[in-house]
Amino acid sequence: MIYQNFPQSRLRRTRQAPWIRNLTRENVLTPHDLLLPLFVHDKQDDTPVANLPSVARLSLTSLVKTAQEAASLGIPAVLLFPVIDPYLKNDRGFEALNADGLICRAIKAIKNAVPDIGIICDVALDPYTTHGHDGVLNDKGDVDNDATLELLAQQAWVLADAGADCVAPSDMMDGRVAKIRAILEDNNHTNTLIMSYTAKYASALYAPFRDAVGSKGALKGDKKNYQMDGGNASEAIREAMQDVHEGADMLIVKPALPYLDILQNVKKATGLPTFAYQVSGEYAMLHAAARAGVLDYDQAIMETLLSCKRAGADGIITYAALDVAKRLYSRSKIKLPAGENDCNRAKVYTSVHE
Ligand code: PBG
Repeated sequence: MIYQNFPQSRLRRTRQAPWIRNLTRENVLTPHDLLLPLFVHDKQDDTPVANLPSVARLSLTSLVKTAQEAASLGIPAVLLFPVIDPYLKNDRGFEALNADGLICRAIKAIKNAVPDIGIICDVALDPYTTHGHDGVLNDKGDVDNDATLELLAQQAWVLADAGADCVAPSDMMDGRVAKIRAILEDNNHTNTLIMSYTAKYASALYAPFRDAVGSKGALKGDKKNYQMDGGNASEAIREAMQDVHEGADMLIVKPALPYLDILQNVKKATGLPTFAYQVSGEYAMLHAAARAGVLDYDQAIMETLLSCKRAGADGIITYAALDVAKRLYSRSKIKLPAGENDCNRAKVYTSVHE
């Protein structure tokens, strides 16, 4: 790198007008960078989620419509999270293995109506367990790693059979990627992708999500003996390397903004497609601050997402995906596709930030 001195170099020269800022910007955001998490429940009506504006637990019909809209905006994939009726929960989360369960019906409905959008499904037991933990408990009340692995592998198989393109283990058990990869290979799902939540920190920022899926009231204790400790950075590399060796295709770091250092390290160490998950609490904070008149939501959300790209993210899972994709379209002055399912439209433009 050659360093120039002032006044030969005036770094403000390349910042003086939108055209030169647009020309020299190192990272951009397009709808192809955005992944949309969606909540589905087995009810006729949609119900809003507290503290997450524009987010609802969707009926199957609304879920399909939303996936259609996402596809038409160039959003590559949706992540599905089921809200399970309490009477279907038990301490071992067996409903997760039901091939006719809500999530499998949701996968089929989307595949049928919106074949071009990717479907990513969480592998973890917490939506299905009465105690709200991601696995099954041992006598001491701790999540039993090895006993959980078998269930997670079965769950991944059920999801792949239903048509999920990608399974995303979010449970943080040791050895789960290998188990899942093996069961998929053995059962004709060699093309099913694994997007592993490789570095998932025990975070206060998941609270609105737990409200949304109804695991919050149920959760006994915390998840600190399986999710990562917020003080640890190099441990994330060990997690990531393990997932790479076990057969992960893609990695997730979560939460996003407070853990961008981790994201950058993981991306550099593995070279795998690596995604930031802007979690429910991050999204809720921005909205709450905007509502209190503290900041401008539209500007702030764009800034946080672009920061993830700059840190090295190949994309961002965000509850703002639809809004942001629409905003990118309107800034690019390209007409929105009129409801048709044409993901490729989005490729014809680049993001315009100003
Ligand atoms: C559960 C899961 C969680 C999230 C995604 N999958 C919550 C948790 O671990 O308790 C959080 C996502 C968010 O907060 O947006 N396995």
